[in-house]
Amino acid sequence: MKEIVISTDNVDKLQEIKEILADFSLEILSKKDVGLGDLEVIEDQDTLKGNALLKARAIYKRVHKSVLADDTGLFVEALNGAPGVYSARYAGEDCSYKDNREKLLADLKGVPREKRGAYFETCIVYIDERGEEHSVHGRVEGFILTEERGTGGFGYDAVFMPEGETRSFSEMREKEKNAISHRKRALEAFVKFYRKTQV
Ligand code: IMP
Repeated sequence: MKEIVISTDNVDKLQEIKEILADFSLEILSKKDVGLGDLEVIEDQDTLKGNALLKARAIYKRVHKSVLADDTGLFVEALNGAPGVYSARYAGEDCSYKDNREKLLADLKGVPREKRGAYFETCIVYIDERGEEHSVHGRVEGFILTEERGTGGFGYDAVFMPEGETRSFSEMREKEKNAISHRKRALEAFVKFYRKTQV
């Protein structure tokens, strides 16, 4: 069976990836499974693809197996695309998800609804077993609320309302969010690409 190493340490993301790739005869391995549980990569690039490439290459270089790595950001129109690639540490090093949401709401104070447009984007980089690099993206458009709504999810979920919805990501069931999320769309784009390589 073909093996593929996933760069994330997050068990929920791993599970989601396993479910989406279940139709392929692929053995999904975590970093830990290939002895790289301690591998740390400094994500210092200014694009999602740059950071995803760093993570994927760090693994490929060591194990020479195919690798999937992802990187995600929230891009807000009124802030010229911030926090973008810096979404994890928008409110500073070692900040919490809540710190980030509060900073975002403060930065958008007084900004009217029509200028609160935003999108989540995920970039997935795939390095195949021969070392060839490929990338795909997934995006979900929406806008930033004026206050937090809901308790589910993580990150910026409580302040993000997807286009055409009446609930924030935090107010949706996990399954509902995962069905339309940026990560799901990027994974679907990957599956489409991967299918073509299998014929
Ligand atoms: P990562 O590249 O998946 O680690 O995402 C970087 C940052 O983007 C995270 O620390 C979160 O703040 C935010 N983020 C990523 N995915 C989501 C999501 O699905 N909902 C809300 N915030 C997210």
